[in-house]
Amino acid sequence: MRMGTEGRDDEQEARHKSDLVSLGSGDAASANAKPGSLIVNETVFSDGFVPDAPLHRHVEMATIAESVKSDTPHHMWLYGKPGTGKTVVLRHVLKQTCGRSADGYIEIDCWEMNTYHRVIDQVARQLDRASRKRTPFEDRTRGFARQDVEDYLRESPLVIVLDQIDQLCLRERNAILYNLAQIGRVSLACVSTGLEALMELDPRVRSRLNPATVHFRPYFSPELTAILKQRAEQGLRLGAWTEDVLRKMAELANGDARLAIRLLRESARLAAGDRTDRIMPRHVHAAWKPLWREASSWRLSRLTEHHRLIYEHTPEQGSIRSDRLRHFYLHTCETRQLSPVAPRTYAKYLQRLIQARFLAESPAPGRKNLHLIRRCAATP
Ligand SMILES: Nc1ncnc2c1ncn2[C@@H]1O[C@H](COP(=O)(O)OP(=O)(O)OP(=O)(O)O)[C@@H](O)[C@H]1O
Ligand SMILES: [Mg+2]
Repeated sequence: MRMGTEGRDDEQEARHKSDLVSLGSGDAASANAKPGSLIVNETVFSDGFVPDAPLHRHVEMATIAESVKSDTPHHMWLYGKPGTGKTVVLRHVLKQTCGRSADGYIEIDCWEMNTYHRVIDQVARQLDRASRKRTPFEDRTRGFARQDVEDYLRESPLVIVLDQIDQLCLRERNAILYNLAQIGRVSLACVSTGLEALMELDPRVRSRLNPATVHFRPYFSPELTAILKQRAEQGLRLGAWTEDVLRKMAELANGDARLAIRLLRESARLAAGDRTDRIMPRHVHAAWKPLWREASSWRLSRLTEHHRLIYEHTPEQGSIRSDRLRHFYLHTCETRQLSPVAPRTYAKYLQRLIQARFLAESPAPGRKNLHLIRRCAATP
């Protein structure tokens, strides 16, 4: 979780500023490179780095800014596939719009903070760090006084970002949103990979939330090339890259900016290991496969245990009939004492695995039953 206002997370902010000072293309930046390395600034390749101006997201930025600036609190639901810029764009807009307000904004990673009480405790902890004027919410004898935090939020405008909201089970998602959305001046910015996590909410919660939805589509190849160029100019030695290799990387990354930026960094490392002063297509190819595997297992680890069970029961070699797959899934749930998801949810999970390219339908026309094959890791 991070606060977005100046004066908090001081250390991190100072580091970020000194990183920005050291940025720049050309000879000055090249002078920062370690001998033999093509990288002059590692920070611009880190996930938390927020570029001065995110590219190609003007419409999304305008919609978010409009919501945040409004006098009455508005809620937002940002959704899109991994690496489509949801977090970085939101942070950029919030830094600009909330940067001067008393408490700015608060980011909560729902992967870690998965109950309403935890969320409120985190909000209080961050507010305490942010303000030196107010009496702190935390009291050594009784911990955080939730009522005090809620009362405070009723009076003071605050944006709370709920990142990875789709990682919460439906019960907690309903509870957290129901409670937070009714607190007077709080605006919620929910971030998820899809709209399903919004659609399956209890109708009362959904109508209370009534968010503006903002879709982040995957980047087109030329857009990714521009994002890569921006990073290469800030992070690599002069002359270490060509537009051609950046284009190649953008094509491979297939709309995912995180993957593209990692590919750029790994290719630069391989080129340096090869003792060349420029990234060649062979470095891109060599960097790609392990990166793709790593990204796939990371994405799989972010899905639910039920998604993973379905995936694991699909054989690496050959295919499996969908009814047999379901049979194995139910059997494993029983042995692990897990309650299986309902048939409709199971069908949705299966579709999600196919859409995310973890599984594929076996190309066997004329077969009565759906056959599935495993794709992940085998086919970058
Ligand atoms: N429009 C952009 N301009 C510059 N950099 C970008 C842009 N979009 C994404 N990036 C960079 O790509 C990386 C991934 O972006 P981000 O973390 O915002 O993706 P995300 O949509 O939040 O992904 P996830 O769903 O996995 O959390 C970050 O390093 C970010 O700085
Ligand atoms: Mg994100």
